[in-house]
Amino acid sequence: MCGIIGYIGQKDLCSVLLDGLKKLEYRGYDSAGIAVIQGGEIIKRRVKGKISALEQELKSSPIRGEYGIAHTRWATHGRPSEENAHPHQDCKGNIVVVHNGIIENYLQLKQELINQGHRFNTETDTEIIPHTIEKHFRGNLEQAVGKAVQELKGAFAIAVVCSQDRNKVVVARKGPPMVVGIGKNEYIISSDINPLLNHTRDIVFLQDREIGVVQPTGIRFSSFSGKPLEKKAERVSWNPVMIEKGGYKHFMLKEIFEQPQVMRDTLKGRISLDEGDVHLDEIGILKKDLNQISRIVIIACGTSFNAGLIGKYFLETIAGIPVEIEYASEYRYKDFIADQNALFIFISQSGETADTLAALREVIKKDLMTMAVCNVKNSSITREAKGVLLTHAGPEIGVAATKTFTAQMSALALLALYIAQIKKKMNKEQRLGYIQELQRIPHQMENILNKVRSIEAAALDFISYSHFLYLGRWVNYPVAREGALKLKEISYIHAEAYPGGEMKHGPIALIDEKMPTMVIAPRDRVIDKVLSNISEVKARLGTVVAVSNQDQKELSDKVDKVINIPEIHELFSPFLTAIPVQLFAYYIAAERGADVDQPRNLAKSVTVE
Ligand code: F6R
Repeated sequence: MCGIIGYIGQKDLCSVLLDGLKKLEYRGYDSAGIAVIQGGEIIKRRVKGKISALEQELKSSPIRGEYGIAHTRWATHGRPSEENAHPHQDCKGNIVVVHNGIIENYLQLKQELINQGHRFNTETDTEIIPHTIEKHFRGNLEQAVGKAVQELKGAFAIAVVCSQDRNKVVVARKGPPMVVGIGKNEYIISSDINPLLNHTRDIVFLQDREIGVVQPTGIRFSSFSGKPLEKKAERVSWNPVMIEKGGYKHFMLKEIFEQPQVMRDTLKGRISLDEGDVHLDEIGILKKDLNQISRIVIIACGTSFNAGLIGKYFLETIAGIPVEIEYASEYRYKDFIADQNALFIFISQSGETADTLAALREVIKKDLMTMAVCNVKNSSITREAKGVLLTHAGPEIGVAATKTFTAQMSALALLALYIAQIKKKMNKEQRLGYIQELQRIPHQMENILNKVRSIEAAALDFISYSHFLYLGRWVNYPVAREGALKLKEISYIHAEAYPGGEMKHGPIALIDEKMPTMVIAPRDRVIDKVLSNISEVKARLGTVVAVSNQDQKELSDKVDKVINIPEIHELFSPFLTAIPVQLFAYYIAAERGADVDQPRNLAKSVTVE
């Protein structure tokens, strides 16, 4: 949530900062601002709205600077407005700050600062930061920042510049991510690696309670208490092409189309057809430790939670281990059982989701076995969990998760096979059977994507509805949830998901001609039950669109629209059923003119509670 960018170097400052903000816009997009230092003076521009509005403002009122910082905001304290947009400043306008996170004790600090004579202009929690730094400033910015951050409670990543201590950007982190890219005679600081990729792939990751001082001559790091730290740059494998739209209208569409490759990349090097084996020694948990687990707890949020629900079926069916799944935002406050024989799996695309990270920390406190399934190497969750299983989806820019959902399912299927192998739950032929099924899937996905026009046509018939019901059973109930989540978040159409069998316990009362139902109905062990659910909807004048590989004739008699998928092993059908539900939501949202990649009120990485 919120994006931070800063630059010291030879390139055109405002272009670098604006370009960086555009690449960060998916983190927050209700207001934006920039501050540059020119000849010892701080010049700011701030606007309500998207980065394009800031770009416009800079065109009509250009600024130049030697170095500077900028921010795109997702409001927590204080409505989206120009005055609440970052950067915020101290009383004299000598110190400016951009911030990602929430300062929990800001009201108390604000009162103390007001009592000391500081004047405030905004409703934000952030504004207390420049004033607290001002209170401690004696000519050295990093020393003042070091003292100020120790007074702040909550989560924050900040970048600070000061006209009285020039040629430096000071950054600090406690919670949300902060990285420094090291280019040729240039440094770029950011809350995310994406904006750095056009400049460098050598990146230093700040850890919690660390401060960085970035100057034209170099960077140095220390702890909040002032202890100098040696930190090395790491080379990231992502490249700038991965974060371009590549001819697609939206990132979301591009990312949906990337799914066959994402699955191939996530399986690559981890399966062996000769031996029928899965190789996951990379995860960093010893085989003997995995062998002794008798229970798995999966903890996640949003789409990652839905992938976890599918992973539960994979793990229980393939590895024969009972799996519970919990929302991270609930689990973190729960008196959970400290089961030494359990593996706690944290699924997160970003690796920075505040609730998931907090739940992980609770589990770590009890010294239990933890593992991250994550898309971002070096993210907080990957650094703190004992084991890490990386999903190789590449950067996901669309706020609605799509390709990372597929990557998470792929990783969980691999994990299930790996544990089954360690625990000798099945023989080589059985494992090989599953591996071959997994390997076939990317090609089957391509078959669906090649017929995208028919899915688009189906979706366009449904653009004017205000409510939707999604039904699925067994391993496709989570896909129904994911379909409903995609539709709500990008098209703002109300959608609810239920296991088909639950419909008669209440939701059936909603069915009428104004409430269409999307049914996920691949041929599997519950297809007859799903067909009965479809009949129940039709008997109440509901319109039904089905995602299915069921015999055409049998299904088309019953439903209003069918989106066909190829044949697939019943356990792995979510890999295929997920794609039409993503596309269905996408085309409805795009046709309604919604901002598909940056839906209102959302942000890609939820780094606040
Ligand atoms: C929905 C979506 C969110 C995320 C959730 C968790 O399309 O993207 O629901 O899945 O915020 O994020 P991560 O996976 O980064 O922990």
